Amino acid sequence: PAKYRPSSAFNSQHWTTNSGAPVYNNNNSLTVGVGGPILLEDYQLTEKLANFDRERIPERVVHARGAAAKGFFEVTHDVSHLTCADFLRAPGVQTPLIARFSTVIHERGSPETLRDPRGFAIKFYTREGNFDMVGNNIPVFFIRDGMVFPDMVHSLKPNPKSHIQEGWRIADFFSHHPEAMHMFTFLMDDWGVPKDYRHMEGFGVHTFVLINAAGKETLVKFHWKPTCGVEFLLEEEAVQVGGNNHSHATQDLYDSIASGEYPEWRLFIQTMDPQRADDYAFDPMDVTKTWPEDIFPLQPVGRMVLNRNPDNFFNENEQVAFCPALVVPGIGYSDDKMLQTRIFSYQDTQRHRLGGNYLMLPVNAPKCSHHNNHHDGFMNFMSRTEEVNYFPSRFDAARHAAPYPIVSRQLSGRRERAVIPKENNFQQPGERFRSFDAARQERFINRILDNVLLHPRTTKEIRRIWLGMLSQCDKSLGQRLAAKLQAASAL
Ligand code: HEM
Repeated sequence: PAKYRPSSAFNSQHWTTNSGAPVYNNNNSLTVGVGGPILLEDYQLTEKLANFDRERIPERVVHARGAAAKGFFEVTHDVSHLTCADFLRAPGVQTPLIARFSTVIHERGSPETLRDPRGFAIKFYTREGNFDMVGNNIPVFFIRDGMVFPDMVHSLKPNPKSHIQEGWRIADFFSHHPEAMHMFTFLMDDWGVPKDYRHMEGFGVHTFVLINAAGKETLVKFHWKPTCGVEFLLEEEAVQVGGNNHSHATQDLYDSIASGEYPEWRLFIQTMDPQRADDYAFDPMDVTKTWPEDIFPLQPVGRMVLNRNPDNFFNENEQVAFCPALVVPGIGYSDDKMLQTRIFSYQDTQRHRLGGNYLMLPVNAPKCSHHNNHHDGFMNFMSRTEEVNYFPSRFDAARHAAPYPIVSRQLSGRRERAVIPKENNFQQPGERFRSFDAARQERFINRILDNVLLHPRTTKEIRRIWLGMLSQCDKSLGQRLAAKLQAASAL
């Protein structure tokens, strides 16, 4: 690699301090005599240490462990009848993007072979601002109300006393949340440990709204399918792969891009007429549900190709800030309560994690021209020379953007804290369990036992509640689980 980057400001041929003063000796501190003590006036030393001392920023509260890659999205099928999004305007249109894949629960340096959902986040740098699709590799989520999220994450994270992830805490928490059974039929299935980041699907998970130029709204779900196929690691494989290399998925992504074998995913959508949202056995705003593909077929939209590795891990992995609130004209939020909560949570955590001006960081800044009067603040490095920083003004030529259609559904209702009427917690997980072949069903049952129910601190009461929930998903699942619990004298 080139030693100097003449294009950057960081281009001196000799060492300097941060303020540019030449450093003639970068090895020895300034001492009284050869042996010391060190003089407090050794500014070179204190500056170097102070920078080092501050190298780490807070890791993400979830999804701390991840790998990013850059590339492009290309529209392959016309969807302009569904959305006026500029980046989806016609087949052939390409948009640069950055993607980040992640595990969820454990720390920034944790193994990438753990049983965990995988994050699947993409930032499209469109001509109308950044569109972030911040999804997972599992099409549903554990819970349906964001109020529950912090408690849920606490139960999955390590015990605050031992700092060890413990199954009894997971069993306990989710015994109160039957809506999570569907997600467990993914997490405790082979699906729960993807082979690496390339061989996994991605999902927008929430229901979003597409809006076309005439203002017509369509409910939509997003699906990404890898062209290299979907593959998983069984327990023994995961132990071996992770034991050899705790960064195997990051390495696989990096190496495949470096060798020119560019990972590619196809984007599909499922669409639903909002007028018909009440017609089904499930609530389409309920994030614990999938939309059956026989009723809502997958429709192709485009493809994502990742063909560039990050130039710098910190700048493009640690500083990248994805946020489901970042949508563009032609795409809107639905009433999904989880999505609505996320609209607040991501920007809030990123102001804490990266600072108030985090959207100025090169990886987060829009690539299109932009203009507003948001002003100053810590670490503001935007160079601005204008004298008018208020609106409206006869001296500032910038005007409102041309109007575009927004989600305009009519709302009415009482203020209340409530559970949705159509919970339907057990039908879809039951169907999913029955779709597994016998060996896969057996692996699923054993994982529920090993990871959650047979922990010595999981009580019999909690086991019976889980048994009740899983029996409602599928009777034979319940019977087989009960037999194994009895055999282990655990009921
Ligand atoms: C990351 C909160 C649900 C996918 C995060 C972060 C927070 C958070 C605070 C760290 C962000 C950062 O530091 O940049 C929440 C809350 C949720 C929720 C409050 C529910 C109300 C979900 C769901 C999904 C999801 C349903 C999947 C559809 C992700 C992904 C990341 C992430 C992929 C990592 C993004 C990256 O690579 O930087 N979440 N989350 N989250 N979340 Fe969520």
